[in-house]
Amino acid sequence: MGEFMPDIIRTDDAQDFADTAARLIWARITSIKNPLITFPTGKTPLDIYSRLLRDHGGDKAVWEKVRYLALDEYVGLPEGDERLFAQWLGRELLDRAGVPASNRMVFNSLAADPAQEAKRMEQWIAANGPIDIAILGLGENGHIGFNEPGSAFDSVTRQIALSPETREANARYWGSLDKVPEQAFTLGLKTLSSARHVFLLVSGAHKAAALEATLHGPLTPDVPATVLRTLPNVTIIADKAALGLK
Ligand code: PGA
Repeated sequence: MGEFMPDIIRTDDAQDFADTAARLIWARITSIKNPLITFPTGKTPLDIYSRLLRDHGGDKAVWEKVRYLALDEYVGLPEGDERLFAQWLGRELLDRAGVPASNRMVFNSLAADPAQEAKRMEQWIAANGPIDIAILGLGENGHIGFNEPGSAFDSVTRQIALSPETREANARYWGSLDKVPEQAFTLGLKTLSSARHVFLLVSGAHKAAALEATLHGPLTPDVPATVLRTLPNVTIIADKAALGLK
């Protein structure tokens, strides 16, 4: 397997991180006609989305051409549930920016046959892709999307059991662990690897060990984000704390 060194953009503090990421992401969005984009949920991108809305929220002609592709989603939540990532992204970015509902390809959390639902997503990407911009966060356990440790580098979109640490990490958003579903859908590592460009967003000292393993540890499904080192087109935007610097 070929190995590449990702382009690392080092930012100072949380503010510089959000400003820089918003600027680079916007430049990439506006360089593509109908960009197909995965936007992550979580704490990391929140300030980035605020800046995109503050600085470019009025650029409706751009946003109405954006095509949003779900990166991952909980399984088993009813339509309209606030925990759905599709809802979350609507609230934090897509509704406010004006990305049309018809441009959002999302998982059906309540699909009767999850395997079939995952297949539907793969087939949709095969027909409508490639993914132009995969924007990803990094889990403390090295996950990207919900590709938990153990995910094969050639994995495709599928249902996956969330690890206890991921459920813990997500519980803070919803107040208690029992509010976090045990199963999720995720685009696979192979699916994400087919993107034209990848941004990995990493902020905070609590991510330093995962980022170190991603950049310098062995290439292994135990740290799913290490798959990014097999790709030639990855930009990592990280703050000093995540890079283990003072
Ligand atoms: P966070 O989530 O931004 O809330 O830390 C990142 C992730 O687990 O992918």
